[in-house]
Amino acid sequence: MNTKQLDRRGFLGVAGTVAAMGAITAAGAGQAAAPSGTVKILGVACSSRRGMTTAKAVQAALDAAGQVSPVIRTELMDLGGLRFTGWSGNDQPEDDFSPLLAKFRDPDVGGLIIGSPCYFRSMSSVCKAFIERLAPLRSPKMLLAEKALGVVAVGGFRNGGQELVISQIQAAMLCFGMIAVGGHAPAFQGGTLLSANNSIDEDELGLKTAKMTGKHVAEAALRARA
Ligand SMILES: Cc1cc2nc3c(=O)[nH]c(=O)nc-3n(C[C@H](O)[C@H](O)[C@H](O)COP(=O)(O)O)c2cc1C
Repeated sequence: MNTKQLDRRGFLGVAGTVAAMGAITAAGAGQAAAPSGTVKILGVACSSRRGMTTAKAVQAALDAAGQVSPVIRTELMDLGGLRFTGWSGNDQPEDDFSPLLAKFRDPDVGGLIIGSPCYFRSMSSVCKAFIERLAPLRSPKMLLAEKALGVVAVGGFRNGGQELVISQIQAAMLCFGMIAVGGHAPAFQGGTLLSANNSIDEDELGLKTAKMTGKHVAEAALRARA
């Protein structure tokens, strides 16, 4: 089934069947959670600067995702300004990130769009800490497995490491069983954006890659749910 076939009625029919099957499986496994007809795409902006270029790039991707189908719901989680640490294998720390973890356990989540600034051609420390804090989603069950992953990276320089940053995040999220979207020009690997004067508004091509990434995440999430 391709995306064009996934009109609202068609998708809801499939989603209803899937939800019912999920409920049966969940009941059998002693779990309550089953997906509803909604497919949520969560965007996570991993700059320490709240509301800046990374958050704008992730929001552009989310907006494009939301246009793919009426059953798509999007939410931006801007980690800028939050005080939290990574995870070192012991108990989860109690900090600003703690209440956010539940959002990723929602069975309606069909995909993630993770955005990071390029810091020395690497993902930001906020992004690394965020990914470490997702560790409980790997065990006892791989809750993000087979879900769609899109990545956007913003740098202050052309060729400033955007694709490296995307690769790093994709590699890390493979540990969660996520499926990275990409492959279509010019968003081969994801969203690659150039900021200037704290803005991405002038980077038309970069914004296009962010929007394409969001669209592909939504399409992949719908296909996976169907
Ligand atoms: C510590 C630091 C390192 C940076 N390293 C790079 C880099 O390697 N490549 C690049 O293109 N931009 C680099 N930049 C610029 C940021 O990636 C760029 O300003 C980005 O838009 C910041 O995202 P934000 O507006 O969401 O905070 C760096 C900025 C900082 C503060």
